[in-house]
Amino acid sequence: MKIKSFVAKQHIIQKMIKRVGFALLLLFAGIFSAIAQPFSKTVSSPNNDVQATLMLNEKGEASYKVRYKGKEVVGASRLGLQLRGHNLSTGLKRVGDGSSTEKENWKPVWGEVAEISNHYKGLQLHLISSDGLRFSIVFRAYNDGVGFRYEFPKQENDTQIVIQDEWTEFQMTADHTAWWAPCDWDSNEHTYTQSKLSAIDATKHLTDIEPFVQHITNVHAVQTPVTMQAENGYCMSIAEAALVDYGAMHLELDRATRRFKTFVIPTADSTVKSINQLPFVSPWRAILLSPDAAGILSNRLILNLNEPCKIKGDLSWIKPQKYVGIWWELHVGKSDWHYRDKNGKPTGRHGANTENVKRYIDFAAKNGFAGVLVEGWFEGWEDWFNVMRPEIFEFAKPYPDFDMAELSRYAKEKGVKIIIHNETGSAVLSYERQMDTAYDYYLKNGFNAIKTGYVGFIQPKGEWHDGQWMINHYNEVLRRTAEKKIMVCAHEPVRPSGLHRTWPNFMASEAARGMEFNAWSKGNDPSHELTLIFTRLLGGPMDYTPGIFQVELNQFDKAKKDRVRTTVAKQLALYVTLYSPLQMAADLPENYEKRPDVFQFIRDVPTDWSDTKILNAAVGDFVTIARRQKGADDWFIGSMTDETPRKFKVKLDFLQSGKTYEATIYEDGKGAHYLDNPYPVSIRKIKVRKGDRLNINLVAGGGCAVSVKAI
Ligand code: NOJ
Ligand code: CA
Repeated sequence: MKIKSFVAKQHIIQKMIKRVGFALLLLFAGIFSAIAQPFSKTVSSPNNDVQATLMLNEKGEASYKVRYKGKEVVGASRLGLQLRGHNLSTGLKRVGDGSSTEKENWKPVWGEVAEISNHYKGLQLHLISSDGLRFSIVFRAYNDGVGFRYEFPKQENDTQIVIQDEWTEFQMTADHTAWWAPCDWDSNEHTYTQSKLSAIDATKHLTDIEPFVQHITNVHAVQTPVTMQAENGYCMSIAEAALVDYGAMHLELDRATRRFKTFVIPTADSTVKSINQLPFVSPWRAILLSPDAAGILSNRLILNLNEPCKIKGDLSWIKPQKYVGIWWELHVGKSDWHYRDKNGKPTGRHGANTENVKRYIDFAAKNGFAGVLVEGWFEGWEDWFNVMRPEIFEFAKPYPDFDMAELSRYAKEKGVKIIIHNETGSAVLSYERQMDTAYDYYLKNGFNAIKTGYVGFIQPKGEWHDGQWMINHYNEVLRRTAEKKIMVCAHEPVRPSGLHRTWPNFMASEAARGMEFNAWSKGNDPSHELTLIFTRLLGGPMDYTPGIFQVELNQFDKAKKDRVRTTVAKQLALYVTLYSPLQMAADLPENYEKRPDVFQFIRDVPTDWSDTKILNAAVGDFVTIARRQKGADDWFIGSMTDETPRKFKVKLDFLQSGKTYEATIYEDGKGAHYLDNPYPVSIRKIKVRKGDRLNINLVAGGGCAVSVKAI
């Protein structure tokens, strides 16, 4: 017994020693792993103007900072994601790092320029979390900015990640002036406010969006892209690129520290931002940098961060174009979208009737426009604001007075195509159920362009316009339409992030406050378009729908006080300044027919360019842009101002030497003013050569458009 008990005791002691030893080992290992090796590495852009430093401190926390032309422009800022079941906050360990260089030129299918240079230096930091999850932080330093993202490879123990928050921060170094719109989970159709960072506050911001499509939870948070200018002039815009399978990026400002933190719109489960199957790469976070406002407009960082074109084969079905449509007449009250009254009887005011559509087709054909948008042509508009009805629209069932077969024949005869409107009323599942059948029906009738729309609350309720579920929907529409060779213009989607490089059938989107607001709200002030091009348009073209000649909108209702706060000459300038491969001549044919001399500019202006020169620019104030028509030697110039009249002398040094051009100048006429005398446009022709100077006189709220044709 004694011996037995001695042996037993010995055994227990040995066991204890083993356990303590193991515990000590664990303790040392713990201490060792907590003290991750600090790391810091800088990647410089090809010309060294931009330097991004990626850091890991002794606690294993990741951060970065950015310098531009020798100045810190983003101070030390946190990186990382909060994942369910993993700790990426501290204890990160470096398992490797790498560097890369890329220098290539690529040609967009359509665009502001014929060729884009993608030239950067890259830095990759490969990490492992204390609980064994592997991921990388990947940086690219361009001469005009920085892009970075998180990359998760396949893992042994996880097939997906659940992202609960993104910690990415942007530490601003001073109280910059910012041009911002509030972070609204459900609408991008706000005005912009210009203020110091420290004064960002959505409660002091003009908003006249119906409350039912508005969801603002943090009044100090803003949309991206948000553009800023520092005291000493340099300009910076924070944006995202390649928004795929993730919620849209907004920025919450801590006003005391001037630090932006990324805020991703959540899914229907408010504790989850996104669920991603592995492997997964996050959208790029992009910091656009420029010594001045003009450089922000010629910055191609967002496009460069997107993937090359995924549509294979012949792309000639993708056609930049101008279009007219049964659209403005619906907004100004000449006709209606719906066909029947409450009792089911035809009202006689239905806009999309066969005869009226033919009138627009004739007008388009006569003026060389490729498209006619038709809204309100299919069943369902009587009760479309009723969010309780999940199946609102029938996308392949025309109203009785819209003869699809006849219009298909007529359009073909005239060489024009109908752009088919697909308002979904945000009944997204209903649309998804009908998409394939509807698209085949349009194609069968010879029409290969659609305009989607997402007015109202998303159904299923709980999802948001800018959340992961909807992002996946918008992208699925692009993929499916690309497969069927259909072009897309999307209204009320998320703001674009350069995906038109990958899906060039994605012609344009609204995703901001367009012309329509002038018809039924407080409208857009004269600085609105001048802010849009420096913010929202950085991510992609906008279907703004310019070209309103009848500026006062009481044509069909004398009591209507609404107006567009513009001169007519400024409406012409928008075709050059607000870039889109899809440009509407939005006013009614009868209004254009009254002013054929002024309308001539809209007939002439192209929608695809081989070169773009920013001749002058100030965010929210003024801009002058010259663009060269693709495949021709003709140039078009657009110049516009806010409420302040301005005079410019611009040098035409971009013209080819040895050639003479005829410039037709459409400018604000005598006494023009956007408030009380918007209509006068004076037109003059002069001969110009390379190096000549052009005088541009802009009245308050005015503009100038010039066609410069080689002779
Ligand atoms: C809002 C869109 O922006 C506009 O273009 C369209 O006419 C209406 N919704 C109706 O779908
Ligand atoms: Ca809209």
